[in-house]
Amino acid sequence: MTSILLTGTAGFIGSNFVPYFLNKYKNYKLINLDLLTYAGNINNLKECENNERYKFIKGDICNRELVEFIFSKYNIQGVINFATESHVDNSIKEPSVFIKTNINGTYTLIDVAKKYWMNKPFEYKKEHRNCRFHHISTDEAYGTLNETDFFTEDTPYAPNSPYSASKELQVI
Ligand SMILES: NC(=O)c1ccc[n+]([C@@H]2O[C@H](COP(=O)([O-])OP(=O)(O)OC[C@H]3O[C@@H](n4cnc5c(N)ncnc54)[C@H](O)[C@@H]3O)[C@@H](O)[C@H]2O)c1
Repeated sequence: MTSILLTGTAGFIGSNFVPYFLNKYKNYKLINLDLLTYAGNINNLKECENNERYKFIKGDICNRELVEFIFSKYNIQGVINFATESHVDNSIKEPSVFIKTNINGTYTLIDVAKKYWMNKPFEYKKEHRNCRFHHISTDEAYGTLNETDFFTEDTPYAPNSPYSASKELQVI
């Protein structure tokens, strides 16, 4: 059984992803870390509660001690990071929590994963060779699209709000 850490799964996208993934991939145990802000609702995951491959932990992705504890207790082999402050209007009124969760929180997850899985850049520890970190961002980091064009991986970042700017910084 492989354990992976999923964050922000009591929110809109994560809470749809978890039951789908549990059902489709039977060899994974999902450790769910969510702070349950106004955007998260534990009832969104009610259908998973009795699944022995599902574990929910209430906590903050910025809490390094907690993230390190989860990595070592469950021998985490992968991360899917959905946790975010995502409301554009809120980011304009009060950007600081967006910096904290979307930038500092994401950094904490990446840094703990790097130290747990790797000896140094480009060199995985033998037992963690296949570990992966998937970060969910948004196309809003690329700005506004007209009626006909598409964003590509070469499109320059052009965020229009503190929210999209905080998501842009995540992928640098
Ligand atoms: N919803 C969309 O239409 C959409 C579109 C494009 C990209 N995205 C991206 O998808 C991802 C998920 O979006 P969503 O719509 O499900 O978001 P959401 O706002 O519905 O849920 C976010 C979840 O993160 C949790 N959270 C917030 N801060 C946290 C912290 N510090 N520690 C732990 N958990 C925390 C919240 O409690 C909540 O459960 C985000 O990265 C978002 O940028 C969403």
